[in-house]
Amino acid sequence: MAQSAYLPGVTIQNADVLDSPRHSAVVRVTHWIHTLSFFGLAVSGFGILLAHPRLYWGETGGVGTPSVLDLPLPFMLGGPSSWGRSLHFLSAWVCVLTGLFYVLFGLFTRHFWKNLVPRKTDFGWKPIMQVISNHMRLMRPTEAESQSYNVVQRLTYLAVVFVLFPLVIWTGLAMSPAITSVFPAIVIIFGGQQSARTIHFFAANFLVLFLIVHVAMVCLAGFKNRMRAMITGHSAAGKDLLL
Ligand code: HEM
Repeated sequence: MAQSAYLPGVTIQNADVLDSPRHSAVVRVTHWIHTLSFFGLAVSGFGILLAHPRLYWGETGGVGTPSVLDLPLPFMLGGPSSWGRSLHFLSAWVCVLTGLFYVLFGLFTRHFWKNLVPRKTDFGWKPIMQVISNHMRLMRPTEAESQSYNVVQRLTYLAVVFVLFPLVIWTGLAMSPAITSVFPAIVIIFGGQQSARTIHFFAANFLVLFLIVHVAMVCLAGFKNRMRAMITGHSAAGKDLLL
């Protein structure tokens, strides 16, 4: 096995690293199941929203009471929300269970620590601004950079996994009378069910925004290669680099 591989301008001391899968099987399988369940959640969530496209703050809200936001959508009572609820709850459980499995796996194998927590050299504005400026100029990462996540990816993935998804799940549970009758603190902390619904809506929108930017970045970095790595575990670049 080669001990070093040459890339223009970069020497990788131990090429074994290129031989190992870019993404582990658990990360890949949970990522794609999770993506499917997210589409189910987004479509059904939109259907449910159409039944009452207004957002309130506090415990109660309804037509004739002051709202926080009136979405420019038609009220469609008895519309997609009837099948939307079943799909939403089914997708939510798939999303929660695969997410939980991924998080436990990441904690036990130190995946988060090794691959998602920014390295010491990444801290500070300079490396972050460098990545942002490269993206703004639509510069593709080098093959060596493609072998790990950059600092902006790491911070974004951590925020999505440990802040946005837990917030969406928590506010979702806070809207369930069955759950809040047993654990009222879950909804009290938000100031009521309508506040939980409003926060749920905005957090879900941030996730959709993340998804759009995430897929755009995958395209920028090289769609075929990145997708191959996320599906098979190996990128073509990694194989080519083995001397
Ligand atoms: C809501 C849906 C999605 C979420 C929450 C999500 C989240 C993530 C996360 C957290 C990672 C890092 C995984 C790890 O190493 O632990 C990742 C990687 C990746 N995702 Fe997604 N993803 C979503 C949808 C998608 C979609 C639709 C695509 C492609 C069309 C995609 C393509 C990829 C690729 C290629 C990588 C590896 C990136 C790289 O090697 O630089 N993801 N995603």
